[in-house]
Amino acid sequence: MLEFFDSHSHYNDEKFLNDIDKVIQSTYDAGITKFTCIGYNLEQSKKAIEIAEKYHFIYATCGISPNDIEDFKEENLVKIEQISQNNKVVAIGEIGLDYYWNKENKEDQRNLFIKQIEIANRINKPIVIHTRDAFIDTIDILKNHPVKEKGIFHCCPLNQELIKEGLKLGFYISFSGNITFKNAKSEDPVNLVPLDRILIETDSPYLTPEPFRGQRNDSTKVKLVAEKIAQIKGMSLEDVAKATYENAKKIYKV
Ligand code: NI
Repeated sequence: MLEFFDSHSHYNDEKFLNDIDKVIQSTYDAGITKFTCIGYNLEQSKKAIEIAEKYHFIYATCGISPNDIEDFKEENLVKIEQISQNNKVVAIGEIGLDYYWNKENKEDQRNLFIKQIEIANRINKPIVIHTRDAFIDTIDILKNHPVKEKGIFHCCPLNQELIKEGLKLGFYISFSGNITFKNAKSEDPVNLVPLDRILIETDSPYLTPEPFRGQRNDSTKVKLVAEKIAQIKGMSLEDVAKATYENAKKIYKV
C-alpha cells in the first residue's frame, strides 16, 4: 500500500473533539502513516504536543499565527520556546503574515513573525509559514532574518513569483486542496516546483479538496492532492507519494 505524509493538519481543532481517536486511526489505516499536527496559538500548540505524544506517527509544531495575534505577549513567546524543546516538536509554526484577514496590525504581525524566526534559530528547528496577501513583506523578512533550518510555505498561494522566491531561499512548497479547486489555475505553479521540494497537506479540518468541498477535511484526502500533482506533472501517484513522503521526513527530520 502507498504511504502518505500529511505535512499540515489541525487535529487539535475543536471540530475533531468528539471523534479524534477514531479519525486518526482510520487515517493511519488508509495509508497516511505520518502527519504533523500544527499549532497556531499557545493553547493549540500545547494540544498539538499532547496529540503527538499519544501517537508514534504524529508530530507537532508550536507557534502563534498572525491571526492569533492577541496571544502575542512576551510571556507566551517564552512558553512557546520552552514547549518547543520537546522531541515531538518538529518546527515552529504556523507563523507568518496575513494581510487578507488582518490589515490593521501589519507591524505587530511582522514583529511576531521575526521573534518566532529567532526562536526557531535558537532551537535549530525549521519554520512553517502562513502567508496571505503579504508576499513582498514575507520574502523581505526571510531575506533579512535567514532561517537556519529553512522551512515550508504551507498551503502555498498559487503565486508564481512567491514560489520562485521561496524556492530560491531553500524552502519547501506545500500544496493543499487549493490546487484541486475549479478555476485554481494550478498547472503552472505546481510545475514550477521540482519534485524534491514539494510537500502535500490537507490543512484539516479546512480546505477540503474537490469533490468533497464543504465537508470536514481529514488526512485521507491528502491523496487527492497527490493525485492532482501527479496528473499535472504527468507522473505516477506512487512517485509523488514517495517523493513527498521523503521530503517531509527530511525537512521535519523524522
Ligand atoms: Ni493551518
